[in-house]
Amino acid sequence: MSTAERALRADARIRIRELGKHYGPLEVFRDVNLEVGDREIVSIVGPSGCGKTTLLRCIDGLIPASSGTIEIEGEKVTSPLPGIAMVFQHFGLFPWKTVFANIAYGLKLAGVPKAEIDARVPRFIKLVGLNGFEHAYPYQLSGGMQQRCGLARALAIEPRVLLMDEPFAAVDAQTREILQFELLRIWQLRPTSMVFVTHSIEEAVLMGHRVVVLKGRPAGVFETIAVDLPHPRTRATLSYPRFSALREHVWTTLMDEARAAELLLQR
Ligand SMILES: Nc1ncnc2c1ncn2[C@@H]1O[C@H](COP(=O)(O)OP(=O)(O)OP(=O)(O)O)[C@@H](O)[C@H]1O
Ligand SMILES: [Mg+2]
Repeated sequence: MSTAERALRADARIRIRELGKHYGPLEVFRDVNLEVGDREIVSIVGPSGCGKTTLLRCIDGLIPASSGTIEIEGEKVTSPLPGIAMVFQHFGLFPWKTVFANIAYGLKLAGVPKAEIDARVPRFIKLVGLNGFEHAYPYQLSGGMQQRCGLARALAIEPRVLLMDEPFAAVDAQTREILQFELLRIWQLRPTSMVFVTHSIEEAVLMGHRVVVLKGRPAGVFETIAVDLPHPRTRATLSYPRFSALREHVWTTLMDEARAAELLLQR
């Protein structure tokens, strides 16, 4: 183990040990070991149905694991803990609440006083570029704007752990690229521990300090790839030869499984 790895383990914010989950007879994953450091972004990729969302929901304390343990800053997760925020693929906004009220919701739940909420929410509205839309309802926003609102809601609680489940999957390609770099910019301003699930290999490499490939039936951590690209990551990062090499590596690692799934479908 390198010195850097030892340092990371010493300050791991999330510790997942021998985690297993089944739904009735379906064993989704087994023996998952993973640590996420303080201020570390870990991307997770894996074929559809391998248990990525299930894993995030276990970390969030929304569903129990079948075996193994998850600890956040040394505290065992058995139900939702404070300071953990999740951003969902389909925005997850309350349609009857305005942008302001959606972002304020998590703060209210956390018992933050109204004066503090009124001061904090506009800062996060500005951070994600939704100024002027405070009083709009989700149906009055584009997909990208709804996703910004979901992001602001998660960030407003100043989470110690940010869980992202394919956060940009439902927006168009251009908006996706803009949001990726915005999230990286925000992360530079307020670094936090992040688990970032995506189907996009490019996005996984761009965002992550490490990329974890989940694979198999039941799934497990097949490979962990260190992304040795400099920070801050920008559009220029996408044209580095090292970026292409890493993307190809992750792609090849995943490909066998994708091909097998395709063959199964064809039978
Ligand atoms: N509440 C549930 N009850 C029973 N089975 C479930 C439940 N939730 C998920 N599953 C099953 O567990 C497996 C993993 O699902 P999960 O949603 O975690 O996969 P995923 O990796 O997030 O997939 P995708 O990439 O398509 O989002 C799937 O086979 C799914 O059918
Ligand atoms: Mg999923």
